[in-house]
Amino acid sequence: MAIPFERLGWLFVRYGKRVYPDWADPLLFDWLQTLPRGALLLDLGGGTGVLAAEARRERPDLRLVVVDPAVGMLKHAGEGVDTVVARAEELPFADAGVDAVMLGEALHHFQDPKQALAEAARVLKPGGRLWIYDFDPRRGLGRWVFWGERLLGEPANFYAPLELQDVLSSLGFSVAFHERGGRYVLQATLLLG
Ligand SMILES: C[S@@+](CC[C@H](N)C(=O)[O-])C[C@H]1O[C@@H](n2cnc3c(N)ncnc32)[C@H](O)[C@@H]1O
Repeated sequence: MAIPFERLGWLFVRYGKRVYPDWADPLLFDWLQTLPRGALLLDLGGGTGVLAAEARRERPDLRLVVVDPAVGMLKHAGEGVDTVVARAEELPFADAGVDAVMLGEALHHFQDPKQALAEAARVLKPGGRLWIYDFDPRRGLGRWVFWGERLLGEPANFYAPLELQDVLSSLGFSVAFHERGGRYVLQATLLLG
């Protein structure tokens, strides 16, 4: 990891939510309302739990787990949220035991995002739900973020939403996405087997 996430937890606690545009909030909140009561929801690359905190406010009944390799990020996760030190490419969860997975501003930081998505498909139950927020490296703000992260030495493994849709379709998901100004929210459902 070129960005020293281990030492940047304080920064994400203070400013992490500002990365997300206002229009993404209702898409997250509406999606959260579709999850079954008491659902197990993983926040992959969840860092300090910025999204998990939103999920807890909206749906206090959910079982929330933030997964991240950086202990320096996880130690800031708030109350009511469990943490697991792991890479998304090797999830320490059994097959088909998870109701939902979210990834906020995280997928492009992974060394192998395709493997992480395959892992998400493995741990999700049939009918399980996926929510992703990320940047389109070919449009608007996404272009700048792409080049900035390349310069910082990050993996910068960005997918354009149509490419991500193809990868997820091949893993058995049905997919819909909303894009604005080089940022997108993608929602997917793992089709029944
Ligand atoms: C930009 S931060 C986003 C954190 C959080 N999702 C948020 O919205 O504030 C990216 C996170 O991805 C994590 N990360 C990097 N590589 C990872 C991997 N292979 N698996 C899981 N998380 C990873 C980093 O440690 C960091 O916490």
